[in-house]
Order: sequence, then C-alpha cells, then structure tokens
Amino acid sequence: SGLITIDPGFKNTGSTKSAITFLDGEEGILRYRGYSIEDLAEKSTFLEVSYLLIYGELPSSDQLENFQKTITTHTLVHEDIKTILDGFPSNAHPMGVLSSLVCSLTAFYPESLDPNRSSEAVDLSIIRILAKMPTFAAWAYKNQVGHPVNYPDNELDYCSNFLKMMFALPAERYKANPVVARALDQLLILHADHEQNCSTSTVRIVGSSQASLYASISAGINALWGPLHGGANQAVLEMLEEIQEAGGDTAKFIEKAKDKNDPFRLMGFGHRVYKNFDPRAKIIKKAADDVLEQLGVNDPLLDIAKELERIALSDEYFVEKKLYPNVDFYSGIIYRAMGIPTEMFTVMFAIGRLPGWIAQWKEMRENNEPIGRPRQVYTGYNHRPYEETSKR
Ligand code: CMC
Repeated sequence: SGLITIDPGFKNTGSTKSAITFLDGEEGILRYRGYSIEDLAEKSTFLEVSYLLIYGELPSSDQLENFQKTITTHTLVHEDIKTILDGFPSNAHPMGVLSSLVCSLTAFYPESLDPNRSSEAVDLSIIRILAKMPTFAAWAYKNQVGHPVNYPDNELDYCSNFLKMMFALPAERYKANPVVARALDQLLILHADHEQNCSTSTVRIVGSSQASLYASISAGINALWGPLHGGANQAVLEMLEEIQEAGGDTAKFIEKAKDKNDPFRLMGFGHRVYKNFDPRAKIIKKAADDVLEQLGVNDPLLDIAKELERIALSDEYFVEKKLYPNVDFYSGIIYRAMGIPTEMFTVMFAIGRLPGWIAQWKEMRENNEPIGRPRQVYTGYNHRPYEETSKR
C-alpha cells in the first residue's frame, strides 16, 4: 500500500476533477460553469442557475420553461409524509426534520435505489427533490410553530410559493412581497454551489457507494448543519444578538475572538479557501442594505455587523490570518428582515445548495468515480491477548 500521507481536514488533498464550479480564493473569484457569480446574481434566476449547474449550459427559453413547469408539477408531497412530520416534537430543529423528510423519499420512490437506472429516471429524481425541498422546508417550520401546513401553489414562482407555504395563515389572505421573493431568489443563487465543501464532499462520498440521490442529499443536509459550515448563518445572528444584549461592545467581542484561550470565534468570518473577500459576502452586504431599505426595516444588528467588519478588517490578527466576512456574515440579517426565523437560516442555505449537491452527485456518477475510501495511519495498541471478564 506504500506510504500514506495524512492530511487532516483535506487541506491539500484534491478529491476529484470537476467541471462545475471555479473558485480562486486568493483573488476572490467564483464562477458556476464559467459564469461569474456577480452576473448570475444580478441577471439570472435560481431555477435557471440550477439548470446551468446540473446540465452544464444555460437553458434556452423553451428548456427553461419546460424545466420550471416540470418542477411545478412535482411540488406536492405524499400525504403520508405529513404523518412522519407529525411524529416530530415541535421543538425539533428544522434541519433534522428536513434531512429526515428528504431521506424518506427513498421509501416513496424505491426505484431511486437502483444504481443502474436510466438517465430519464435519474432526471425525474432530480426534478422531484428540487420541487419538494421548499415544501419540506416550509413544513418543517410549520411543525415548529404548530400551524397547519400549506400546500404548494403552482400558480406561483419557486420563491413566492415557498414564502406562501411558510407564512400564509388559514384566516388571512397572503401575497408574497415581490421584493422579498427576488431577494430570496438572489440569496439562493449565491448559495447554489461552492465546489468541494464539507456537505458537497459528503454528498459525493455517500453517492460513491451508489446510494440513492435522496440518501446522499439527506447526508449533505446533515453535514451542512454544523456551525463551522452552513450552521454559521444561525450562529452569526445569535452572536449579533448576544453582542446587542451585552450592550453593543463590538471591540470586546473582537478581542474575545483573538484570545487563544477563548473558544469564541467571530462567526461568519474566515474561510478554508478564500484568503480575500468572499465575493458572495460583497453581494450580500449590498443586498442587505437594499432589501432593508426597500422593506423599511431598520435593524440595529446590521449596524453591529458592519461595525464588527470594520474593526476586524483593520485588526492585525484578522489581516494577518486573512480572515474576511464569508457568505454567512450578512445573509441572516436579510432573512430576518424577511421574517424568516433564525433556526430556519441553515434550511434556507440547504434549499440554495441543493442544485450544487445534485450537479456534483450527477457528475460523480457519470464519471464513474470509485467508492470514496480514505486510508489512515493506525496509532492504537499492538496485538493484545483477550482476558476473561473475571480477570479484568
Ligand atoms: N474567528 C477568529 N479566529 C479565526 C476565525 C474566526 N472566525 N476563523 C479562523 N480563525 C483563526 C484560527 O483560530 C486559526 O488560528 P491559528 O492559525 O492561530 O490556530 C486560523 O485563523 C486558521 O483557522 P482554521 O480554523 O485553521 O482554518 P480552517 O480552514 O480549518 O477553518 C473555518 C475555516 C471557516 C471553519 C473558520 O474560519 C471558522 O471557524 N470560521 C467561523 C465559522 C464560519 O463562519 N463558518 C462558515 C464558513 S463559510 C460558508 C459555509 O461553509 O457556511
């Protein structure tokens, strides 16, 4: 087997070749299939970007219309899924509910377990998960607040439908605010793929055993949940609230983040690959200003966030370690202005990352990649004789 190199956290190990997302961390460049994130965020839509990531090209208008229409016809979920949902206590974190409901699709569509399905059958699984994810996400929220679930409204676009499933109450007429729907669509575009991050690598490695798309994505959702990954957007907002409650002393928290003996980190700062501004953070910071202004929201947490950024960017510790705001730093402030509760933030990230996970899973399977199976260097005991219980 030769010499094994250990690379904890895979800091210098490439796991695959990929033609989906280009990322230059030194320059702060991000492109999906060659298109810059700035162009896509400004000009495209989330479903168009999903098509681009999954199928490699921007769709023609017919292809896009057909893709959107097909997704719309699969937004409903099997009624029995409501029974599964009802089994969760209302304090269940929506990420756990989401990954469970996604995994339950393996039971409703057992044909998805066949690794030798036709590409048409795989496409149908892809459509189904894209269509049902917002339904699951909104239902996970409804379970938390104890409200009846809303069924999808297929007259609406992807984001307006999601907002309606989230916020419509039986006794009220609901209409999604187009400013909110567009801002959400843009946030989803910004989250849609980010090459071999923790959750995507998870999806690829689970899928490499030829497990189903649904099982692989369910695993990806769980990987995203942690506070060092997608869970950071929830952690950022909780941190900003903590700073606010402590009297708004931002400098004190910067000192805490620098203290080696304090486990506190400035959430939403730093990145494994970006050693420059995260281009997504730049777009999101501007969007936060625009959306709050359009909605007439004045959020003191935005001021705290900007103040933290200002201090950190001129502090030697952060400058030397090249720690900049990442995608999660400002996104929570926009979600909050939209009325989305903090525990749902990482769910929003999961909806956004879904097309990336799908595209990466599909690429991995189409390239016939071998099963992912890293090696180790054993550091435990040498051979030991077994002792009877009475002698221990
Ligand atoms: N606050 C204070 N110090 C930090 C921070 C931070 N946010 N991030 C990194 N450092 C320090 C860290 O202590 C280490 O110092 P030293 O070299 O003296 O030990 C150095 O910077 C390098 O950090 P690392 O943890 O070795 O780097 P990594 O590549 O393993 O971790 C990271 C990257 C994103 C997990 C980390 O920067 C972090 O924990 N950030 C806060 C959580 C966060 O915002 N995560 C979201 C990531 S972006 C998108 C996503 O996945 O959701």
